[in-house]
Amino acid sequence: MTNYLSNYFFEWSELLVLWLHIIAGIAWIGASFYFVWLDDHLEPVSGPEPGDPGVAGELWAVHGGGFYRSRKYRVAPEKLPPTLHWFYWEAYTTWISGFAMLCLLYFRDADIYLIDPAVMALSRLAAIGIAVGVIAANWIVYDGMCRSVLGRKPKLLAVAIALMTVLDAWGLCHVFSGRGAFMVFGASLGTIMVANVLFVIIPGQRELVRAKQEGREVDPVPGLKGKQRSRHNTYFTLPVLFAMISNHFAMTYGARENWLILLAMSFAGACIRGWFVARHKPEGRRGLKAALPAAFAAVTLVCLIAALAPTERALGARRSAAAPVLAGSAIMTIVKQRCAPCHSNRPAAKFGFASPPHGIVFANLHDLRMRRAEVREMLSSDTMPPGNVTGLTNKERAEILRWIAQRARK
Ligand code: HEC
Repeated sequence: MTNYLSNYFFEWSELLVLWLHIIAGIAWIGASFYFVWLDDHLEPVSGPEPGDPGVAGELWAVHGGGFYRSRKYRVAPEKLPPTLHWFYWEAYTTWISGFAMLCLLYFRDADIYLIDPAVMALSRLAAIGIAVGVIAANWIVYDGMCRSVLGRKPKLLAVAIALMTVLDAWGLCHVFSGRGAFMVFGASLGTIMVANVLFVIIPGQRELVRAKQEGREVDPVPGLKGKQRSRHNTYFTLPVLFAMISNHFAMTYGARENWLILLAMSFAGACIRGWFVARHKPEGRRGLKAALPAAFAAVTLVCLIAALAPTERALGARRSAAAPVLAGSAIMTIVKQRCAPCHSNRPAAKFGFASPPHGIVFANLHDLRMRRAEVREMLSSDTMPPGNVTGLTNKERAEILRWIAQRARK
């Protein structure tokens, strides 16, 4: 009972932390999208009042039943206002709750979410150590590159960052389960984004404010550095969001060359964001140039959709023609042993679930029939059982797939 109770409370903490993570993430990314958009839509000050010469541009908007007028200063206003709003807790809260999720799910249940013995037989401690190490190393390498001479060559820097992500995707997918690899990839980029806010963007702004308060000449360098980091964050956003939702789509992380899928989705995400940005720039609102990244993204997605389309072989249908199909009772024996320890109304406590994952229970053949499409996807991509903790053999896997192909519809 105590095991069930503690699993039950863990499930609540997962729910609450995930909820917080999503709320904070929406607030952070929403504000970040808004400010990029705002910057790109500034117009010369208009209207009857004399303009402040320090103002670079302004923007009028109507929202929620009122008119808003935002102005951006070239460097800083003559006098700082008494109240100045900052935006950073959204980013920090997203990271803190995200790291908590990583600990609650991926580290606590590393055997299920992070490790796949078919990829690499890792101990739990080694897996957690590698994940944390990769996340930290990514930031150190990225930050080092930005501070090096590369930092002054934005195009070269972008290529170097892209190479780093290729190495990440390839390396992680050859160490962890697909699901775990995608998550650690997303967590690494997400960590870079938050660390950019914490270590570069906000300190730059603090320096700006301090210089103003002390009546010093404002040094533009910290601001420019912050701008560069914030540009990188813009392009990381969509890849990170994909990585965070990828665990619902076994067809992506469970694919054979899953690292390529991860990179292609990241590329498409960065292009889509690039398209938003280009479209909002005054010169991009007309003409076709802004549509180029959108076209790259569309072509990439179409290629991915074609590449991942299930084949006859993957569906277990071809081999099934020759070989006899096991009887339903024999299939249920396999399922009881390999799936039901988790997918039952009372999951085995050692796996850490208080209730069946996704509410999926395999108590009889009917349950299996009802879920045949999902089961086929899970088994043909080797994603269930996670980390193969119940030791499903290849033969058993093939038997279930064959049964689904031949008998599940009847
Ligand atoms: C160690 C526990 C465990 C075992 C054993 C296990 N599963 Fe799962 N299963 C899970 C978890 C956890 C999820 C939810 C994954 C997620 O959060 O996306 C899941 C989800 C699923 C889903 C739904 C996937 C989706 O995307 O909606 C199917 C179908 C499934 N399992 C089938 C199976 C089959 C078939 C077996 C046996 C061959 C099996 N599982 C064995 C833990 C297990």
